[in-house]
Amino acid sequence: MGRSYLSVRMRIKRHKVFLVCLLGICVISFLHYYTALHSISLLQELSSPSSHLKTLKMLRGFFWNFPTDDIHFKQNGQKSSHQKGFVDLPDLPDAKQVVTNLHLQKQIFDLHDDSTPFFIHTEPGAVCFHEGTDLAALASHGRLLKHYEERTPLKDDSINAGKKEIRCPCRQGWHGPQCGIPTVVYHSNLPSKSKVTPRKVPRRVINAININHEFDLLHTRFHELADVVDTFLVCESNFTAYGDARPLYFQHLILNGTFDYIKHKILYIFLDHFPDGGRMDGWIADDYLRTYLTKNGMARIQGLKPDDVFILNDADEIPSRDGILFLKLYDGWTEPVGIHLRKSLYGFFWRQYGTLNVLSACTAAMLFKVYKGDGIYLRRRSYYTMSGFREYENSTGRVLVPWAIGSPVHYAGWHCSWCFKPEGIYYKLVSAQNGDFPRWGDYGEKRKMSYIKELIRTGGWFDGSEPDYPPTDPKEHMYAPKYLLDNYDKYHYLLENPYAKK
Ligand SMILES: *[C@@H]1O[C@H](CO)[C@@H](O)[C@H](O)[C@H]1NC(C)=O
Ligand SMILES: *[C@@H]1O[C@H](CO)[C@@H](O)[C@H](O)[C@H]1NC(C)=O
Ligand SMILES: *[C@@H]1O[C@H](CO)[C@@H](O)[C@H](O)[C@H]1NC(C)=O
Repeated sequence: MGRSYLSVRMRIKRHKVFLVCLLGICVISFLHYYTALHSISLLQELSSPSSHLKTLKMLRGFFWNFPTDDIHFKQNGQKSSHQKGFVDLPDLPDAKQVVTNLHLQKQIFDLHDDSTPFFIHTEPGAVCFHEGTDLAALASHGRLLKHYEERTPLKDDSINAGKKEIRCPCRQGWHGPQCGIPTVVYHSNLPSKSKVTPRKVPRRVINAININHEFDLLHTRFHELADVVDTFLVCESNFTAYGDARPLYFQHLILNGTFDYIKHKILYIFLDHFPDGGRMDGWIADDYLRTYLTKNGMARIQGLKPDDVFILNDADEIPSRDGILFLKLYDGWTEPVGIHLRKSLYGFFWRQYGTLNVLSACTAAMLFKVYKGDGIYLRRRSYYTMSGFREYENSTGRVLVPWAIGSPVHYAGWHCSWCFKPEGIYYKLVSAQNGDFPRWGDYGEKRKMSYIKELIRTGGWFDGSEPDYPPTDPKEHMYAPKYLLDNYDKYHYLLENPYAKK
């Protein structure tokens, strides 16, 4: 009895030791796997040595060292075959890759109040917008006022009356009593612009975009808006707008550290399916991207407030910072909000006449009460026919008329179409949706590198036309976003026509 009891206990003990060891091995290998995933580039880690080399070569080939000669295509003329064409995109992300990035897909973003001291409270009791105020003038102004008050003591009520008249001395480009109204709002058609008031706590700003391969413009957006946008919702699909397979380039770049400077503000959204009917009618696919981006993205934000600002852009639409900062810091503007964008093609050098005024912003309250939480409705101009609109307008206590930041002669951002190197234009051609006819990617001769370069050189369009452009100068006001101008050599191809004959 005793002996068998003992041996049972020993056996249990041995089992225990074995289990503990097993558990230890599990933990260690899990940790090892986990850190490996985080520190090593995803592609390097997950691909087998041979396919890894191939994938990397193809990725690099596509992204960076694209051959400059004409592309030769397989001659079977099938729509689907040219998708792979020469560019031979990397293989689909496999199941393993999807699993490893669950944390990106499930990530929740917590919105917090921005405690940046945007305004200063002056001694005479005025509130001035820090950046827009001439601080030296303010200091001497304050001294004068104090001096005056000491010599002619005022009664309490007249001091209060005096306070209202104190205006901050504004720097060039800033207006209003607090110097917080930028020129693009001052010259806009905002009916209530004389009645706007600075907020005590800034609104949180959410900027949502879909991304394909506009990575230079993405860096530009992030730098332009980094200090005014609280979170960027960035959606990427493993399908092109045409319905073909597409590698998750952006995910790769997030994981390999390319966006570390802004990663804390990015909410990554992965669209893993293609909408029904999207292949027949490309507009369905186009709309669906925005719907999914908004719905999935907004559902993963915590701490959203009704007066937060939602801005939906295409990847090639970059609002300038000052106008967005105004939305963040002021009360009293109406919605929906459009933005007048400077239009250009292939780079900033082919500027087009006029502006593109796109409805792009509204409050979170309006997004949900009027637009049903679907960003696609914001981009259309039919808000007043939407069922929730009258009720929502009533609840705000004011007449909601749309207005736009900027004006036809005051750019409040940039719309840079087809702003890529030739290889990027090629990729945009073949991944374009089926519906924006004619679909130039279907014509072999229009996909040739020499043809694409000639378009960039002349500012011509795929239909053979050569529009009339006004002259431009990189030194002109609002020529291009600051980040690009600050990195002129790196982004030279967007700032000066690379093929112009000197
Ligand atoms: C995209 O990812 C989803 C989920 O992993 C997968 O089911 C689908 O087949 C992928 N799409 C393509 C084109 O491979
Ligand atoms: C990330 O990957 C891209 C493309 O593969 C590469 O060009 C870039 O240098 C990588 N960045 C880092 C920080 O590894
Ligand atoms: C608007 O608000 C008022 C009171 O605030 C209410 O009496 C009226 O029914 C509302 N109208 C609509 C269309 O909601």
